[in-house]
Amino acid sequence: MTSALVMDRAAVEAAVSPERAVEAVREAFVAHARGAWSMPPKVYVTNYPAGDFRAMPALGAGHALLKWITSFPGNPARGLPTVTGIVLVSDASTGELQAVLDAASVTALRTGAAAVLAAETLGRADAETAAVVGAGVNGRAAARTFLARGRSVALWDVDVSRAREVAAALGCTVAGSREEALAADLLVTVTPGHEVLIADGMLRAGQHVSLMGADGPGKAEVAGAELDRARLFCDDWEQASHGGELAHAVEAGLVSEADVTALGAVLAGTAPGRADDEEITMFDSTGLAIQDLAIALAALDGADQASLSRLEL
Ligand SMILES: NC(=O)c1ccc[n+]([C@@H]2O[C@H](COP(=O)([O-])OP(=O)(O)OC[C@H]3O[C@@H](n4cnc5c(N)ncnc54)[C@H](O)[C@@H]3O)[C@@H](O)[C@H]2O)c1
Repeated sequence: MTSALVMDRAAVEAAVSPERAVEAVREAFVAHARGAWSMPPKVYVTNYPAGDFRAMPALGAGHALLKWITSFPGNPARGLPTVTGIVLVSDASTGELQAVLDAASVTALRTGAAAVLAAETLGRADAETAAVVGAGVNGRAAARTFLARGRSVALWDVDVSRAREVAAALGCTVAGSREEALAADLLVTVTPGHEVLIADGMLRAGQHVSLMGADGPGKAEVAGAELDRARLFCDDWEQASHGGELAHAVEAGLVSEADVTALGAVLAGTAPGRADDEEITMFDSTGLAIQDLAIALAALDGADQASLSRLEL
């Protein structure tokens, strides 16, 4: 009989701080860039316009992971979360299932961590202002991570009451306007990606944007022409070229792999990051299973395992 640890949302959040999440995700990007961790591209099972399911496997540090997770943008109107699912962690040498974790909390921790890690790595060294546009589950996680890293952050959301509520809960500010938020030195966007937030010509020299919301086919937060003005970075070329911000430009032959640097290569020191203070840097995040593996292992490591319930199979 197999017995697996069960970690619900509260257990995951108690076990992994946003600071720990940033370090875990940094290590995962580096391990993946060096070929020590592997990850087939995620598989989308689409049921648009309602939403989609994603199956995301990864292998690393003696463990295998599968995340089965949803994105149903219309769910909040029904009182349901946009993102739900589970993470399975197995022993990579015996195949034994070791743990089942809540996927939404793992996802929020790793998404906030990647957004801020990219901003810290690619933003200007003298960046002062930071903003998060989209104050939902994952935008909140990005704001919480900025705060945990000692940086003030302004929030903006099309639902102003939501931005106010999240800002009050986290202890950050609400941006005076959408334009003010979009002008931040370090900008993170985490909206559903159904409407372009950053129009052509809107970004200033020296800005950094972590584009987190458009993580799948048909989504975009930035106008295609604005890609031309920026140095482009992504989490994983295989995923980013097939869904998200870059996919249209890749399809049209306007962007190729040579134009886009993987964040992991920058973190591993094998590719350059920002070249000068004038560059606009853009990080296209599609969300990686190696990030989930990093957070799941950090959660198992940080948990009081004796207090967790077990699933007998
Ligand atoms: N890149 C990644 O790794 C990653 C990880 C998780 C989620 N996502 C994606 O991020 C997006 C948001 O996910 P979530 O779980 O936070 O959703 P959510 O529904 O909890 O939050 C979305 C928020 O965006 C706001 N919003 C909608 N349109 C807006 C606009 N035009 N301007 C400003 N705010 C706007 C909504 O009011 C809401 O507060 C989804 O598309 C999801 O698929 C990406």
